[in-house]
Amino acid sequence: MMPASSSASKKVLVKSFGCQMNVYDSARMVDILAPHGFTETTELENADLVILNTCHIRERASEKIFSELGKLREMKLERNQSGGELVLAVAGCVAQAEGDEIFRRQKAVDLVVGPQSYHRLPSLVEGLKKKRRQIDTEFPLEDKFLSLTPPTPEKIRSRGVSAFVTIQEGCDKFCTFCVVPYTRGSETSRSVAQVLEEVEHLAAHGVREIVLLGQNVNDYHGVDDGGSSVTLAALISKVAQVHGILRIRYMTSHPLDMHADLISAHATNPTLMPLVHLPVQSGSDRILDAMNRRHTAEDYRKVISLIREAQPDAAFSSDFIVGFPGETDDDFEDTLSLIRDVGFASAYSFKYSARPGTPAAVMALQVPEDIKVERLHRLQTLIELQRHEFNQTMMGRILDVLIERAGRRDDQIVGKTKYSQSVHVSGPLSLVGQIAQVQITEVGTNSLSGIIVAQEK
Ligand code: SAH
Ligand code: SF4
Ligand code: F3S
Repeated sequence: MMPASSSASKKVLVKSFGCQMNVYDSARMVDILAPHGFTETTELENADLVILNTCHIRERASEKIFSELGKLREMKLERNQSGGELVLAVAGCVAQAEGDEIFRRQKAVDLVVGPQSYHRLPSLVEGLKKKRRQIDTEFPLEDKFLSLTPPTPEKIRSRGVSAFVTIQEGCDKFCTFCVVPYTRGSETSRSVAQVLEEVEHLAAHGVREIVLLGQNVNDYHGVDDGGSSVTLAALISKVAQVHGILRIRYMTSHPLDMHADLISAHATNPTLMPLVHLPVQSGSDRILDAMNRRHTAEDYRKVISLIREAQPDAAFSSDFIVGFPGETDDDFEDTLSLIRDVGFASAYSFKYSARPGTPAAVMALQVPEDIKVERLHRLQTLIELQRHEFNQTMMGRILDVLIERAGRRDDQIVGKTKYSQSVHVSGPLSLVGQIAQVQITEVGTNSLSGIIVAQEK
């Protein structure tokens, strides 16, 4: 690793858009720039380098980047006028999808780097001294993760007791609406040793919950030291043995890859949390087929009931798309009835957005915007009702809460239930990183409150 650059310390701000994998990548970008003299800032005014880590999943997400860049351009011009500098970088999935088109659309951009090549950020930044613009959107052969710098103990502590660990990159499913297989490349899993080394480092510096990430995380098939392929369930059981790890979550899963050993891990592994994020997108078999999801609504119902059998306190969240090309009123009603049958703890839902280069973008029978708006509203009303009912069932119960941070009020601390609901309680900050048993006394719209009745070490 290169020593810290001789120039005075510079400041980097990384702004994340999109999914948890981008959040993870943003942190890793900060980590890899640290030995090169960059410290992290959250204040735009102080930043010498601004990296937008972007998302291409829907048109709106993608277009937002260009309006952000417009504002940053103004800042850069002001800086230049007063003799200062501001380097603008675009990373992530828009960088991958649009490549050097970004320089054409926004001339103030200095650097474009894709999600599989951001380990080369230090040399790209250095290269700007010689060349006005730098771009790297390759899918390199070398292992990006091996080139990354582990976070310092201080960084780990500042990021909190719950940490993301990406264990798999890319996706080979090619759902007809989705850009991910193009922006992130084909599916690859990190080795078991790499994952465990990262988890051990995090746990040694106070992390108590690990969220294992991948676009298709339940299809994880990393190799162990003997070269054999290991499933997500087997990886989870190894992560559970790391000293200090109290809770494990994983996301995002595909219903097709909800294998028997993972389902039984829900029965046997108490560190595996019972909130399962399992996107279904639609409840209509016709639409699921057109989406290339390769399962039926009935298959999904079966998977849900198998998980519930394994872990009776399991709860589910999901993703839905309304207004996929060809979606009729009847198809949409099928989605609502699937939602009623399953009963979700929460869900994300989106209007279908046609993405350039994906098969669905050119399908016949694109659904008009007003119908999408109406369907989204109906679906969200139903989900909101279910979320509210689910949260109400917490009232009066004694729940394990992993205390994560200080609250806004004096002596208030905030933690999460096994279902990821935020809980506010009175208690000392020394409980951060520990599990307290909390009796729930109040259920609000977005969080719960309660009193600590016991605590575990
Ligand atoms: N890998 C995950 C999710 C990937 S993207 C999965 O297989 O489900 C996150 C969510 O964005 C998707 O679940 C989907 O609901 C939504 N999404 C993806 N492409 C979209 C598009 N073109 N229009 C609207 N929503 C989309
Ligand atoms: Fe996109 Fe489908 Fe892959 Fe999920 S499984 S990332 S929705 S292509
Ligand atoms: Fe968006 Fe890329 Fe994630 S498109 S959802 S940031 S993988």
